[in-house]
Amino acid sequence: MDLLDQLTHSFRQAFNAEPTLICSPGRVNLIGEHTDYNEGFVLPAAIDKAIYLAVSQRTDNELHFIAYDLDKTYQGSSTNLTPTHTWADYLLGVVAQFRLAGHTIGGLNCVFGGTIPMGSGLSSSAALENGVGFALNELFQLGIDRVDMVKLSQRAENEFVGAKVGIMDMFASMMGKADHVIKLDCRSLDYTYAPLRMEGISIVLCDSQVKHSLVTSEYNTRRAQCEAGVRFLQTFYPEIKSLRDVRMPMLDQHLRDAEPLIYRRCAYVVQENQRLLDGVDALEANDIASFGQLMYGSHEGLSHWYEVSCPELDILVEIARQQRGVLGARMMGGGFGGCTINLVQEDVLDEFRKLITKQYKARTGKDTYLHVCKIQDGTNVIS
Ligand code: GLA
Repeated sequence: MDLLDQLTHSFRQAFNAEPTLICSPGRVNLIGEHTDYNEGFVLPAAIDKAIYLAVSQRTDNELHFIAYDLDKTYQGSSTNLTPTHTWADYLLGVVAQFRLAGHTIGGLNCVFGGTIPMGSGLSSSAALENGVGFALNELFQLGIDRVDMVKLSQRAENEFVGAKVGIMDMFASMMGKADHVIKLDCRSLDYTYAPLRMEGISIVLCDSQVKHSLVTSEYNTRRAQCEAGVRFLQTFYPEIKSLRDVRMPMLDQHLRDAEPLIYRRCAYVVQENQRLLDGVDALEANDIASFGQLMYGSHEGLSHWYEVSCPELDILVEIARQQRGVLGARMMGGGFGGCTINLVQEDVLDEFRKLITKQYKARTGKDTYLHVCKIQDGTNVIS
């Protein structure tokens, strides 16, 4: 039985009803990391690893959830919502935000499971939040547009789960388009789709098998350091609102000697925004080799200036660099574990798989798992 059949079966058994099925994908980000909460740019896409939800409306106001992969259940009322500090918060948070936004919703049955490994940096939580929001919108016919659902998912994570994440993950999962990357301006939320024309090149994820447990505390620290940099610079340039408005000479002049750590954090972000803009130009010119070099630059910055990598991620990138036909590689997402993203020529894919599995094991004692991504549409009902 495939996963969808299993979820449907489990749903029928638990609720004696027919479910609506929803697919909500995880995401990759080609370049532009830790730029979203600094009002910069990101270049993500939705992928063929997803959270699947079987859902139906209830006649009462109760919430009945089953986390199929975890073999756990949750039951509660939709009118009395407080954090449980468990997986259920990703669902409850969305219900809470929909209610706070004034939407009338009743009870919900939900069985969910997925193919996104948890803690691998592919945004299983954003996918789940979007899936729940999409379910509420469908079942209660709320008529909310996709971008507003994205904002509600982000608010659920920021305010209910308590992780101060940016908007990229939810946006990519909800707004993804098959075979396209999204160039998103995280200040205005203007976005364009760029076709991914990478003939003969695959997007390959290498899972470090390190769960990014440090990520929440360190993530919030990085955010605070960026904000401190902005406040510092505002004494010289009152018009600055975020690192989006900052250029390297401003940092070099005022921050480098006065606040060296904050300088390194801010310099990384300013340079990463520029790398993304250069990268979009390179993609438009079909110059994947230059794009790949920018990815290596991004990794260097994340590892040495922003300090959100870890030895295992650095090793994965080092090994990738040795492989002929790998055009670029870098850590992806929040950091401290999860996956690297690699652009690999299809003719060396097998060679690369052998090299990286063997050397990673030899150097870290850990296994790495490779996943060749397909870029797919965002959150949707499965018909
Ligand atoms: C996590 C967050 C995103 C983004 C990335 C880093 O995935 O959820 O909002 O900040 O880290 O780019």
